[in-house]
Amino acid sequence: MSELLLPGLIDVHTHLRVPGGEHKEDFATGTAAALAGGVTMVLGMPNTSPPITTAAVMDDVHQLIARDAVCDVGMFGGASTADIAHLPTLGTKAKALKIYLNDTFGKLRVDEVPTLVQCFKTWPRDKMIAMHAEKQSVAVGIALATVYERPVHFCHISRKEEIELIADAKMRGLPVTCEVAPHHLFLGAADYERLGAFADMRPILGTPDDVAALWAHLGDTVDCIATDHAPHTIAEKQNDPPPPGVVGLETSLVLMLTAVRDNKISLERVIDLMHTNPRRIFDLPVQPDTQVTVETGNFTIRNADLKTKVGWTPFDGREVAARVRRVVLRGATVFEDGAVLAAAGSGQIII
Ligand code: NCD
Ligand code: ZN
Repeated sequence: MSELLLPGLIDVHTHLRVPGGEHKEDFATGTAAALAGGVTMVLGMPNTSPPITTAAVMDDVHQLIARDAVCDVGMFGGASTADIAHLPTLGTKAKALKIYLNDTFGKLRVDEVPTLVQCFKTWPRDKMIAMHAEKQSVAVGIALATVYERPVHFCHISRKEEIELIADAKMRGLPVTCEVAPHHLFLGAADYERLGAFADMRPILGTPDDVAALWAHLGDTVDCIATDHAPHTIAEKQNDPPPPGVVGLETSLVLMLTAVRDNKISLERVIDLMHTNPRRIFDLPVQPDTQVTVETGNFTIRNADLKTKVGWTPFDGREVAARVRRVVLRGATVFEDGAVLAAAGSGQIII
């Protein structure tokens, strides 16, 4: 067994469920899960209840981050037709904008072209626009990035046709970036047969061809690994229909380091995908004196070890090649051997 030292990882796609979904996760448990996974900075999504589509809701959310968070947190504002006039003020308080072009958990879907145009015209130009775009919606996002000459980041790309379209867009110099979620790399449609609702998320798991295409593009087209950490309780997952989404903060790094052991990716590339690129793309601050110590060896992911409030992961029982031993954030040991040591509210708000 040996130890590896990594920079604090950044996860630009998490659902921390505040406000309105605190029975699934809150800033205390969600950021504890982040530290347990070697993640020292997260960006939180706006598909809450109410959704984060105005500066007033964002102010309330910031107060709760300041009270509870143990790692640094930036928030996405959400685009909606009803609150479109709020974008400029929301833009002063959010780290980035999220636009949902497809159906998923929550009601934040945008279908109207005038709303999309307003987003591109009125969202602060120095802040990223991220899109939930599946299948042909990826082409809509690339077109908007081209017409309005501003960057678009595509969330959780999961299909061969999508990653190939983004590769072509990048080849033409268009300002697009993308992330891939670990569940789309380490699970596939066959796992849905085994796990049912516990492997149901949006976008759904891919075919073997989709999974192979994502791995093939990890070395170049893919910019970030982001978890789409989307907690729902076991009881909710047993409803019909179940809400889509699975957690990921605590398993992302150890799965990627297992791929390093198996010679599927280099450690340097993992650091690019989980630290360097997310920081550059979303213009995130440097965290001084921050590092993650990882122990390599043979370990097993267990539901019982999780910090997330929902207490389950589709990777329960999976053998992995690493575990997070210690996390130091701004010089303080905030996580060690399974215990969160950071004081509530010691995480900073990123704007
Ligand atoms: C997410 C959630 O539960 O908030 N669910 C999911 O399946 N990914 C929503 C989302 O990111 O689309
Ligand atoms: Zn998401």
